[in-house]
Amino acid sequence: MSWFITFEGPEGAGKTTQCHALATRLRDQGYDCLVTREPGGTPLGEAIREWLLGRNTLRAETEALLFTAARAEHAWERIRPALARGTIVLCDRYVDSTLAYQGAGRGLDERWLRELHRVATGDLWPDLTVLLDVPVELGLARRRAAGETLTRLDSELTSFHERVRAWYHTAAQREPTRWRVIDATKAPETVAEAVWVAVAEFLEQRKRTGR
Ligand code: TYD
Repeated sequence: MSWFITFEGPEGAGKTTQCHALATRLRDQGYDCLVTREPGGTPLGEAIREWLLGRNTLRAETEALLFTAARAEHAWERIRPALARGTIVLCDRYVDSTLAYQGAGRGLDERWLRELHRVATGDLWPDLTVLLDVPVELGLARRRAAGETLTRLDSELTSFHERVRAWYHTAAQREPTRWRVIDATKAPETVAEAVWVAVAEFLEQRKRTGR
């Protein structure tokens, strides 16, 4: 059995660290595991990433199409084959980022974005999505403190990032079987433990029900 698990959240929530920490724990338990990210995950995806995160001026529609184009390659060339081999796929951001950033953030129609996703990926959705939740100001302050270069999206107004975070909260409430919300303001080890508890419970439940 294989599962597709995604990490989502506002800027500076620690998704990348937590994705790798979870992979280590899953491997320790004997699971085969692929860690990947978006935008990226394939050579074309990484090239598109450069464009999207660089200082280019893009229309919102173009931005959504590029994120989705990268995702089409990623879904068909890496994620689906890994799932077919029985590998657990952990992905740092996926379609919910498009719905949150290009939908709620930029104001594009969510139904159009969902339709694009359906066509681009054959409607591949995660089995489980971990929302690492931090207040916008704290996440952005972490980014600055770490001395990271701010991307084009990081540099959006606070109100943009507030809309993104609010969308995540609504999505998690709307679909509680897929989403797990974790308080990511805590120390990384505490967050890793909470993620592990949530994922281990999910895996147990899926094994019990045979899905
Ligand atoms: P990244 O440096 O990977 O940031 P993070 O560590 O927060 O994931 O940059 C990814 C950026 O791209 C981030 O600001 C969110 C944004 N993004 C979208 O706007 N739409 C998308 O579909 C995806 C996958 C990411």
